[in-house]
Amino acid sequence: MSSSVWKSVYVRIVVGVLGVTLFSWPVFFTYNSESLPTYGLSLISPKPPANCSRVGKDEDELIILIWMWPFGSKFGFSYAHYDITGCHLTTNKTLYSKAHAVMIHHRNILLKTLPKEPRPYFQKWVWYNLESPTNTRKSPALNDLFNLTCSYRRDSDVLTPYGSLVPISEEDGLFTRVPMKERLVCWIVSNWNSRYKRIQYYNELKKHIEIKTYGRAFGEYISNDKYIEIMTSCKFYLSFENSIHKDYITEKFFRPMEYGAVPVVLGPPRQNYEIHAPGHAFIHVDDFPSPKELAERLKHLDQHTDEYMDFFEWRNSFKAVSGRFGLEQTCRTCHYLKKQKRYQVFRDLNKWFWDTNVTNP
Ligand SMILES: *[C@@H]1O[C@H](CO)[C@@H](O)[C@H](O)[C@H]1NC(C)=O
Ligand SMILES: *[C@@H]1O[C@H](CO)[C@@H](O)[C@H](O)[C@H]1NC(C)=O
Ligand SMILES: *[C@@H]1O[C@H](CO)[C@@H](O)[C@H](O)[C@H]1NC(C)=O
Ligand SMILES: *[C@@H]1O[C@H](CO)[C@@H](O)[C@H](O)[C@H]1NC(C)=O
Repeated sequence: MSSSVWKSVYVRIVVGVLGVTLFSWPVFFTYNSESLPTYGLSLISPKPPANCSRVGKDEDELIILIWMWPFGSKFGFSYAHYDITGCHLTTNKTLYSKAHAVMIHHRNILLKTLPKEPRPYFQKWVWYNLESPTNTRKSPALNDLFNLTCSYRRDSDVLTPYGSLVPISEEDGLFTRVPMKERLVCWIVSNWNSRYKRIQYYNELKKHIEIKTYGRAFGEYISNDKYIEIMTSCKFYLSFENSIHKDYITEKFFRPMEYGAVPVVLGPPRQNYEIHAPGHAFIHVDDFPSPKELAERLKHLDQHTDEYMDFFEWRNSFKAVSGRFGLEQTCRTCHYLKKQKRYQVFRDLNKWFWDTNVTNP
């Protein structure tokens, strides 16, 4: 993803669109969130931490120093959503010698601007990255520098997926209706590169079904309101990742789920997606021998509302939430350090991030 995409995705405030606009097809679900898995996040904590702030200052307050803003984009610290207290988030470099963690964002690393003073014995340097290996420049100088990794990969010390499914609670209310649909298949795309598998697939798919396209690749800027309108008014959304890597399942997948479109995914294998979401919440291109058969399936579902509605059954128990740019990484790091104080070093970052067999689920 490009930095601008990240910015636009993460700084947005989630609007309760499903509650206010365009209704059709009522479906009634019953509420039951007992003993459900939490997709994507079950490995670090049963529910996402909320209230990551200085509120509730205590003896154990941890100082988390954000060494540089990710992609140069600032993010706010006070988010009522987070529930970790005793985290002092700061960008004030004079606190370096006291900081328990220093957050270093891969894209913005310049070796000459890294901290020069000796690292205090208790301090952890956290490597964090919001891109896939394909879109991350490799740097041999980064081995033996960090204590913790923080990324979308499930084997990171601090897991920060682009989104996740969490059990609904009483106050979420029930998802009772699917928004009214005006279009069949939609796609918003900024980065057009004919070498990308997704472009090749799209070029084939569009021969068999009409696809409504939007975005920078077509010289069009999509505002947040427009984005939400597209997501709600389309039956299917092409959640095609720009590069294919294990766990690299981005907001392209979670946001349509948030707003009521069914994702048609191109990315890691189905097995990998099923760790992040129920198998019947999405359509995988690999389920079909060719784009032609996929197109036929989508047209069939267009004509069979009852079958289409099955793709929303997961909303009976879950809601999709998107990660918050920068804050997600910082708060979850604090949360991790509250529980995990042991000595840690991360030796071979390059081998781990780039050479692992990333196509395996
Ligand atoms: C956030 O922290 C404050 C202070 O500790 C607390 O009063 C509030 O209930 C917390 N919010 C949530 C959502 O837990
Ligand atoms: C940074 O922290 C130092 C030491 O606590 C303080 O004196 C200074 O005013 C802070 N700077 C900013 C910009 O907050
Ligand atoms: C962090 O990693 C560095 C580099 O490997 C190491 O020298 C340091 O002792 C580690 N610190 C902690 C607190 O784990
Ligand atoms: C990587 O995984 C793929 C898919 O499971 C497998 O076919 C391939 O042999 C693996 N490559 C290596 C180098 O392990």
